[in-house]
Amino acid sequence: MSETRTELLADVAQHQWYQSIDLGDGVVTPGETKDATRRKFEMMGLPDDLAGQSVLDIGCNEGFFAFESERRGAAPVVAIDKSPVAREKFLLVKEILNSSVELRSAELMEIDRGELGRFDLVFFLSVFHHLRHPLAVLDRVADLTRGRAVMEFVEAVPDGDGEPSAMVRKLSRRGHLHMLPTRKFLLEILDQAGFREVAILGEHRFHKMKPEKDMPGFNEQRVLLQASR
Ligand SMILES: C[S@@+](CC[C@H](N)C(=O)[O-])C[C@H]1O[C@@H](n2cnc3c(N)ncnc32)[C@H](O)[C@@H]1O
Repeated sequence: MSETRTELLADVAQHQWYQSIDLGDGVVTPGETKDATRRKFEMMGLPDDLAGQSVLDIGCNEGFFAFESERRGAAPVVAIDKSPVAREKFLLVKEILNSSVELRSAELMEIDRGELGRFDLVFFLSVFHHLRHPLAVLDRVADLTRGRAVMEFVEAVPDGDGEPSAMVRKLSRRGHLHMLPTRKFLLEILDQAGFREVAILGEHRFHKMKPEKDMPGFNEQRVLLQASR
């Protein structure tokens, strides 16, 4: 027997949310990122009408960008994430929204590019710094893009005037190793992956790095950009 909307919304309350996703009738998942995800979406300046466009959301987490694309008429919409916790929440939202977005629960290094095909619009947002093989995955993102990719990176911002091309290491709160490219290195690796016409859409969430823990001489911020294939 399928659950009623009331029962599904009671399930929503049992989870901890990362993204604030509009579930209709004034109900929004209580995302820890508050309205940052929606502001990021607005910064992209995407058309209200995405009809006729196929969309892939790589590292979708609970699916905000995939569901928003579908809401704007995109089809097919496919989303990928390896996290079982995110999967449970994604499927809950999918049921509440009666959505057709397809979720692939997969590690990015293991996806079959041939089988997935290529997409008009690809989201690759705040995933790069979590990866063990970031450059290999960036090549895959390029292979999966037919039109344009909207990407977000946590980048290392040098304190001084120099403009080094480098990957800077940072330890996350949980002690995970994150690799942050400088802007110069980022533009070089995007070019080498096959991306063209890179346009910066915005910068946000500037933070001072902790010199005792992270790489001295650098700070961090997020950069949102668009690139075509
Ligand atoms: C910081 S969240 C970003 C979520 C979303 N893209 C956004 O910008 O709001 C990173 C997501 O990438 C996923 N992820 C990280 N490494 C991955 C990998 N190797 N394969 C698949 N998913 C991965 C995580 O499970 C997580 O949901």
